[in-house]
Amino acid sequence: MKGIILAGGAGSRLYPLTLVASKQLQPVYDKPMVYYPLTTLIEGGVREFCLISTPHDLPRFRQLLGDGSRFGVTFDYREQAKPEGIAQAFRLADTFIGSDPVTLILGDNIFWGGDAFQRAFSEFTGGATIFGYHVHDPERYGVVEFDATGKAISIEEKPQKPKSSFAVPGLYIYDNSIVQIARDLKPSARGELEITDVNVEYLRRGTLRVCKLARGFAWLDAGTSSSLHDASAYVQTIEQRQGIKVGCPEEAAFRRGFLSLDQLAQVSAAMPRCEYRAYLEEVVAEARRG
Ligand code: TTP
Repeated sequence: MKGIILAGGAGSRLYPLTLVASKQLQPVYDKPMVYYPLTTLIEGGVREFCLISTPHDLPRFRQLLGDGSRFGVTFDYREQAKPEGIAQAFRLADTFIGSDPVTLILGDNIFWGGDAFQRAFSEFTGGATIFGYHVHDPERYGVVEFDATGKAISIEEKPQKPKSSFAVPGLYIYDNSIVQIARDLKPSARGELEITDVNVEYLRRGTLRVCKLARGFAWLDAGTSSSLHDASAYVQTIEQRQGIKVGCPEEAAFRRGFLSLDQLAQVSAAMPRCEYRAYLEEVVAEARRG
């Protein structure tokens, strides 16, 4: 399974923060925002990544993530010249995807709790898998409607009158037919290649699976100054209470077997003295104690 992290966009709601660094590079408590979606996909078993961002921001992402070896993964990079829609990512990354299935995660989506994604990745055999999450403001998102048996029957992008309270979060898993579906897409009235149109096409083909995310699962948005602050406060609360880090890709890579214990020790030894390094050293020490 290949993984795309989409980290472009305008970030206009975070102005002036986004004048010099993109939204997905902003700190969420103690690490850059993009570490959270990266961790989510590593936990799902993804090892080959393509990060897509604007020509302006891409060099910063290269600086931050490099070739991926620090996380036991590989990174390719692609430019999105203009934010012409989430589904454009599959056109930009078609040579990266090749003949494999692919998952796409938005670089500003922060998930925490449960193993719904890990299960969805390991159970994925074809078609598309997306998720439904209960929110109070579904009209801001793609909205999925279910029948009485729990089967998805419609998906609408930012509907004025939502048919349910279930929004589709920014993590999508597709088989390789996504490449052709994305090629055939037409821009919507707002001029974007819509991810909702991709999902509607899988629904039409009868190969769309929508998993409802349980209560207790957190999907955080960090697109405005106050929601960015809330996300930081949430992460701080969990980390201080539990003594474990949310969104730590090096740790996830170790637990997934992408980095050996010795490699994790080397990666942390190369960091300057800081809380992040101290945390990883504790992970190493705990694993050595067994
Ligand atoms: P949005 O939140 O819709 O847009 P934005 O990030 O540009 O922010 P703002 O509304 O404040 O200007 O995008 C959701 C995510 O998808 C975000 O991480 C950016 C990313 N994205 C792209 O990378 N390329 C695109 O073409 C689009 C539409 C979104």
